[in-house]
Formats: sequence, structure tokens, C-alpha cells
Amino acid sequence: MKFFLDTGNLEEIKRIVRLGLVDGVTTNPSLIAKEGRQFKDVIKEITAIVPGPVSAEVVSLKGDEMLEEAMEISQWAPNVVIKLPMTEEGLYACHQLTQKGIKTNVTLIFSAAQGLMAAKAGATFISPFIGRLDDIGLEGMQLISDLRSMLDIHGLKSEIIAASIRNIGHVQQAALAGAHIATIPGSILPKLWGHPLTDKGIEQFLKDWESVPQAAEAVK
Ligand code: E4P
Repeated sequence: MKFFLDTGNLEEIKRIVRLGLVDGVTTNPSLIAKEGRQFKDVIKEITAIVPGPVSAEVVSLKGDEMLEEAMEISQWAPNVVIKLPMTEEGLYACHQLTQKGIKTNVTLIFSAAQGLMAAKAGATFISPFIGRLDDIGLEGMQLISDLRSMLDIHGLKSEIIAASIRNIGHVQQAALAGAHIATIPGSILPKLWGHPLTDKGIEQFLKDWESVPQAAEAVK
């Protein structure tokens, strides 16, 4: 399974890149807005640090305008991926960009039918939003496993990005449900390697170590 970071924040990305855990990055207009910087600058800096796919989202609602934006964004770096909304116009743009060999990520997917449409339109990545489904009392994780079954049964090539991840459980369950990728907020990914029993164990080991005679003292 691949891990993407769901952030526009360079410091969060650098912290986790140094551990070799970042296979790609996803952004969206809300994440970019948090940074208070130019969209292009943020994406160019991220693509320079992360060699894997970096999703940058269009904001137009009309297909031809999405395509204009996509053509501009795709010049910024070779590893940029165009993120498109799951709408009729987004599917049109997805199909056109796929024919030009430009990678796409169809976002805001909330049903298996939507995921299937995006995969058929040629999306490189499809992004079902787990957390936002859970928020309204639906089963986000069921959508991941349904989509994985559909892609496998029909030999569709899109990769599933489990998005809108809110906790460690979401990452574990998405891995078991067959998501190819989890895109994880920078605030949540560090929680994946932590455990209170690990901290307690280290504390106890160091305390016990204090009673071990040190080399210099042992010769006396
Ligand atoms: C995915 O690509 C989106 O950026 C993201 O996962 C949205 O998550 P949210 O529901 O926490 O905003």
C-alpha cells in the first residue's frame, strides 16, 4: 500500500519524507488556502521534494475551462496530477486528459457508481471520501471494498485513494479493504507510528539501565 500526504504544508511533508514514507501528495483548494501562499508556488515546491504523484485541483466547473487550467498546471512539474471533481464536466475533462496522457485524480467520490464512472473515463486515481461518509452515518469503508471489487472484476486500471481519513483506524481498515493508497493528513500520519506502550517500554528500559554498572566503574 502506498501512503500519500493530504496537505499543502511543506514542513509536514519534509518531516515525513525523511522517513521514506511519502509516495505522493494530495492537495485541494481548502488545503492550499490554509497555506496563504500562491497555488503555483506551493505545488512547485511540493513536486520538487516528492518524486511521486502530486495532485493539484482545478476550480472551474465547466469542462473546457477545467482543461485550460489542467494544461497550465500540468506544465508546473512532470509529477503533477490533475484533480477533477466527480461531475459530468469533470468526467469529460478526465476523458480528454487521459487521451493526452495526462494523469488525473477524480475527487469527491461518495458512491460506487461514481467511482465506476471515473474509472471508465480513464482516471489514474479515484478518491472516495471515507470520513465525510462516516460523518453522515454511512459506511465509508464499505465503499472502498466495493470499489476494489468492481475494479478487479472488470479489470479497470484506476487506483483507489482512500481520502478524508480522520484516524488511525481508517488507515488500517482502508489497507484491509483493498485501497491502493491512503492519503493521510500530516496531523494524523505521525500517530501511525506511535503507541503509549512503546513510550512506556522505553521509559522503563532507560530507568533500569541506570542500575547497570558502567564500563569505567566496572574496572575499579
Ligand atoms: C482528498 O484528496 C482530499 O483532499 C481530502 O482527503 C479531504 O478530506 P476532508 O474530508 O478531511 O476535508
